[in-house]
Amino acid sequence: MSSLFRKKSISQLIQQSNQKSLNRTLSALDLTMLGIGAIIGTGIFVLTGVVAAESAGPALVLSFILSGIACALAAFCYAEFASSVPISGSVYTYTYATLGEIFAFLIGWDLMLEYLLATAAVATGWSGYFQALLEGFGITLPAILTSAPGSGEGGMINLPAIIIIFLITALLSKGIKESTRVNNIMVFIKLAVIVAFIVSGIFYVKPENWTPFAPFGFEGIITGAATVFFAYIGFDAVATASEEVKRPQRDVPIGIIASLTVCTGLYIIVALILTGMVPYSQLNVSDPVTFALQFVGQNSLAGIISVGAITGITTVLLVMMYAQVRISFAMSRDGLLPKKLSKVHPTFKTPFQNTWMTGLIAALIAGFVDLTTLAHLVNMGTLAAFTLISIAVIALRRTHPDLERAFKVPFVPFLPAISALLCIYLMTSLPVITWISFVIWICIGLIIYFVYARHHSKLGK
Ligand code: ALA
Repeated sequence: MSSLFRKKSISQLIQQSNQKSLNRTLSALDLTMLGIGAIIGTGIFVLTGVVAAESAGPALVLSFILSGIACALAAFCYAEFASSVPISGSVYTYTYATLGEIFAFLIGWDLMLEYLLATAAVATGWSGYFQALLEGFGITLPAILTSAPGSGEGGMINLPAIIIIFLITALLSKGIKESTRVNNIMVFIKLAVIVAFIVSGIFYVKPENWTPFAPFGFEGIITGAATVFFAYIGFDAVATASEEVKRPQRDVPIGIIASLTVCTGLYIIVALILTGMVPYSQLNVSDPVTFALQFVGQNSLAGIISVGAITGITTVLLVMMYAQVRISFAMSRDGLLPKKLSKVHPTFKTPFQNTWMTGLIAALIAGFVDLTTLAHLVNMGTLAAFTLISIAVIALRRTHPDLERAFKVPFVPFLPAISALLCIYLMTSLPVITWISFVIWICIGLIIYFVYARHHSKLGK
């Protein structure tokens, strides 16, 4: 029984990471940019439209605020972990050291659901803007090839989404490591595009579009919050760079909280402007931001914005897929998943097989499942992870009261407890089908743990 809860030792983990000593070059600003690079993507550029039209109406802005609060609370918890256990590997590693192996396995398994499906979901958003761009040049792809079946657009397969995933897979498998500079440029483009939308869109806002403000009531706002939650995912990626940060204990919390703050601010403004420019019921399109500009006759700006959105979404895609490979790599190295997944390619020095397997599965999913269904499942997985990390903060305070913590969540245990409850609340407003899929995924994970992982665990040996 106790073997289920065997833990890695925190001091050993820190020692190991010190020995490996990657170059510590990143600053708080670099981390903030890294965070923004991972956060702003399909969520704001695509999901806002669907949510405004189908769940929240102009009250979309409240959905964003509510979801932002949930993320901020979870971000505090992340920051405390990152400042006390500054090792790469994110929540999976943190949990292994605090709550024990079975929780670590389940959270790793859950994160794989998050990142794998997020890869597919983000690619679907990419596809929407790519099509908008082509249309700007007068090229319209046949409907059958441009969306998943059942999304109401007469599609059979989302071909552009599949193609972009294969391109990213090819890059990652050869070992492209996004450099800080390239990332900063991409983030700059992404921010510029959003600011351009805000500055030009504000002149076309018609306040009458904001009434009725909450056509679907309170329930709609909550459902909306549980969906747009997707737009915030990615700040957790900052914690995974801990080992390359100059002063991780101080800078990682700053990076996490700063990137989240910037994005929350932008999201709130974009939500207001978007629903102010276009009657909410017309926003159910795959490229709402460019659609809104075309709606008011700003066609050239719409074109520029779709190029920026495509660039921006591509960086998110890279980060999500990289995270997926990294988590399964770490789990395989610990013996919890088959060895194949941590095999390193002799020439490229990357987990080549793992990357291609991930790419193939993500491409299949992106080709045939629609964005909203995917986003719901990703959110479910992420909210579950946030719940666990909030609980883990309380646990870590008890089990390791003397551990040095450069950043401390205030009002423990209340704040982490509220964080966990809010996440659970958002989870309860996701559709039943999402719950069923999630429970099936976790059950498969449990079976793998008891049949395979437990007996192959390196820690166990
Ligand atoms: N937050 C990321 C996005 O919106 C996942 O694309």
